[in-house]
Amino acid sequence: MLTNDQLSKWDRDHFFHPSTHLGQHARGEAPGRIIQSAEGCHVTDRDGNRLLDAFAGLYCVNIGYGRQEVAEAIADQARELAYYHSYVGHGTEASVTLSRMIAERAPEGMNRTYFGQGGSDANETNIKLVWYYNNILGRPEKKKIISRWRGYHGSGIVSGSLTGLSLFHKKFDLPLDTVRHTTAPYYFQREDEGQSEAEFVAMCAADLEAMIEAEGADTIAAFIAEPVIGTGGIVPPPKGYWAAIQPILKKHDILLIVDEVITGFGRLGSMFGSPVYGLEPDIMTIAKGLTSAYAPLSGSIVHDRVFEVLARGTDENGPLGHGWTYSAHPIGAAAGVANLTLLDSLGLVSNAAEVGPYLTQAMAEAVGDMHHVGDVRGVGMLTAVELVSEPGTRKGFDPADKIVPQIVAAMGRRGVIARAMPQADIIGFAPPLCLSREEADTVVSVTHDSIANVLG
Ligand SMILES: Cc1ncc(COP(=O)(O)O)c(C=O)c1O
Repeated sequence: MLTNDQLSKWDRDHFFHPSTHLGQHARGEAPGRIIQSAEGCHVTDRDGNRLLDAFAGLYCVNIGYGRQEVAEAIADQARELAYYHSYVGHGTEASVTLSRMIAERAPEGMNRTYFGQGGSDANETNIKLVWYYNNILGRPEKKKIISRWRGYHGSGIVSGSLTGLSLFHKKFDLPLDTVRHTTAPYYFQREDEGQSEAEFVAMCAADLEAMIEAEGADTIAAFIAEPVIGTGGIVPPPKGYWAAIQPILKKHDILLIVDEVITGFGRLGSMFGSPVYGLEPDIMTIAKGLTSAYAPLSGSIVHDRVFEVLARGTDENGPLGHGWTYSAHPIGAAAGVANLTLLDSLGLVSNAAEVGPYLTQAMAEAVGDMHHVGDVRGVGMLTAVELVSEPGTRKGFDPADKIVPQIVAAMGRRGVIARAMPQADIIGFAPPLCLSREEADTVVSVTHDSIANVLG
């Protein structure tokens, strides 16, 4: 067996990691963890440390780790048929079954899924479908996409442009010119402190209207948004936000792409996030919870009203010129079928509806009054603790001080994994949906002790 020192050296010398400080990692100044095994909500690293993973990997291992049913489904699929493509109408029992299972769970009319590998490529697909759709409808000018500051939609060229975090744009020549970003529905970080929540929502709606007017509605194809901002800081929308936004999109004939990569398959305590906020998507992005990350798989679920136009397009122009070798990969599809079956049989969506709010409330009670805690918020199995440098203000810390990374490191030493959210002073939590109340209590007490340890 390889020694840990050997692995660490190979890691530094050969492994080009995503979302990593490349120089520090290569010099050995910021070693990551090498994970060896996992079970339930816990992962174990190569040094034998067992950690409660309160971020479910990257909000994706919804059913928890080590589910043998999914492992068996993957192994059976690999033995019987590891691969066949899905071009020109081909499929496998697993991919056809999964498309049916998704349609049964998705909002009404969302009946067809195009499968990809991850959330980023699914959003690339979505934008191409929207452009194709408007070309078929004879509206070649209607192509721009409105996204939101602090939205996260991936890190490809289009999906990274949709993302509204400057870290993902800087030095990459993004965003592309076809993308516009409107106001983030982030009430805690509003510019005008005196604004009520209702006034803030009215401002978000007015900002969107003004952008549409300035650009011209006939140039705007779609609006893309997560039901709840995820990587941008775990920010549930202010009350009435979606009720104010959606009619504006309808009025201007702008398609709604709901990015459910995080919220899909139970994280909000409901199968999807859209019904929680009364959203009526034209296209939905799914990934993560679709397979609980046991294998890579994503999807673009297309509403019948959009599909009809796309189908007309192929009648007029021939087969759709869009596809990936690994679209609907049988191993991912088999993982998806087993995963959704377990999600139901273990009652994990209702567990998320119960234990998620318990976690947020217990967190608020334990840390809400601490000197540097500005906000504790959450919905379903998503919780965030936002820190401020000066109590009573909404001012953050100097990023150079790395306060939240220090707290998250202190949590790691106490056996809990949380995430230092990018571009903010936020500790993020998105545990597996099978989290128990006892595990939630551990997350809360470790958070409290680690904040106290770093900030006094
Ligand atoms: C809402 C949302 N959309 C898209 C993505 C991109 O997915 P992937 O990393 O699988 O490409 C993510 C990833 O975190 C996400 O949270």
